Amino acid sequence: MTTTDGTISRRGLIVKLGVLLNSAAALAFAIPIVRYLFEAFSRPDAKGYLSWISLGPTSQFPEGETRLATYRNPYVTPTDGRTADLPCWVRHIQAEQFQVFAINCAHLGCPVRWFAQSGLFMCPCHGGVYYRDGSRAAGPPERGLFTYDCKVEGGNLLIHAGELPTPGSPAAAVSQRKPLCA
Ligand code: FES
Repeated sequence: MTTTDGTISRRGLIVKLGVLLNSAAALAFAIPIVRYLFEAFSRPDAKGYLSWISLGPTSQFPEGETRLATYRNPYVTPTDGRTADLPCWVRHIQAEQFQVFAINCAHLGCPVRWFAQSGLFMCPCHGGVYYRDGSRAAGPPERGLFTYDCKVEGGNLLIHAGELPTPGSPAAAVSQRKPLCA
């Protein structure tokens, strides 16, 4: 590659340039992959994933009623903006007994609406219907609404919000048999 007088031949220069460009391209591909793999460990808010989030004082939720509440997803990045504000349905059964439902239909995830007059949750997409306790009433969903773990502490209603209840998540597995929040 180097000529007898110590200068680099054209072929040698092209080979070195090729190696340099290939290394730069490999690095450009590798950086996002490595960042993705280690992101879970490096995020400062990673532990917020399973933290308890307050939905506010229990007095906001009158006994016997179901109301919409919103919380900020603890597993959030600066670019998430308002998409990290998540709605859920809160049912105040009595005293300190609550149920907190994911807003998404258990069929394909459309947001369900609460109709107090009929005491039913209804899904606008394919006609899924749920009773006031979240159990399935009619339509294509194969199960009831997903529920959050919740508890009352210091007069506030708290939910285990980082892990969204979805099919296959540990929260979904226990939500079918767990007791009401108290
Ligand atoms: S998404 Fe609700 S019934 Fe299909």
